[in-house]
Amino acid sequence: MTDHARDAETEIPGDAPGEIPGKPTSASRTTLSHIMTHADTNLLGTVHGGVIMKLVDDAAGAVAGRHSGGPAVTASMDEMAFLEPVRVGDLVHVKAQVNWTGRTSMEIGVRVLAERWNESTPAQQVGSAYLVFAAVDADGKPRSVPPVLPETDRDRRRYQEAQIRRQHRLARRRAIKELRAAESSPSDA
Ligand SMILES: CC(C)(COP(=O)(O)OP(=O)(O)OC[C@H]1O[C@@H](n2cnc3c(N)ncnc32)[C@H](O)[C@@H]1OP(=O)(O)O)[C@@H](O)C(=O)NCCC(=O)NCCS
Repeated sequence: MTDHARDAETEIPGDAPGEIPGKPTSASRTTLSHIMTHADTNLLGTVHGGVIMKLVDDAAGAVAGRHSGGPAVTASMDEMAFLEPVRVGDLVHVKAQVNWTGRTSMEIGVRVLAERWNESTPAQQVGSAYLVFAAVDADGKPRSVPPVLPETDRDRRRYQEAQIRRQHRLARRRAIKELRAAESSPSDA
């Protein structure tokens, strides 16, 4: 894992000469909808968290592929929150968008909403997650992605929040690496 100088940047990108042209958030925003059935339940009779996580990964993967214009793999999923139980007969909508882009990676923000499949009651938010996808080439090596161009105040806020999460992920990874290196150093023997 390499830390890139881009992490120090706090500005929201625009198109810069010589770079891959940016893509607006709306160009890849995606909603995946699915009706929950008995095949999706856990032992308590509500929908299994893993079923929701699969939908979250699928929706985020579609967004990452659309934004980067090719294959992209899940590098991490964090802050997956289950806010309310999902039940058989719920129509689940998984809404995903690119929150932030780095050099080869993208943070995808996902919101999970549920409504009864046969009632016109408002959809309720039942979950959320943040995933990092890396765009890869045919050999599975990271490749550059277009910078995302946030369009609304909400997109810009999400971009800035994603930068904070990115800094925390890198800092946590560095701290753990240092701790492990210190633990295995010969001077400790
Ligand atoms: C993700 C993967 C391509 C990264 O490869 P790598 O050799 O570590 O490459 P890098 O260190 O250059 O990382 C590439 C980008 O991903 C980011 N990244 C890698 N691992 C990450 C992690 N665990 N969390 C957050 N971001 C991560 C890096 O910060 C970098 O972003 P940037 O270019 O925007 O700065 C590689 O680890 C991989 O193929 N993993 C398996 C993916 C997979 O199979 N997913 C499905 C799960 S079943």
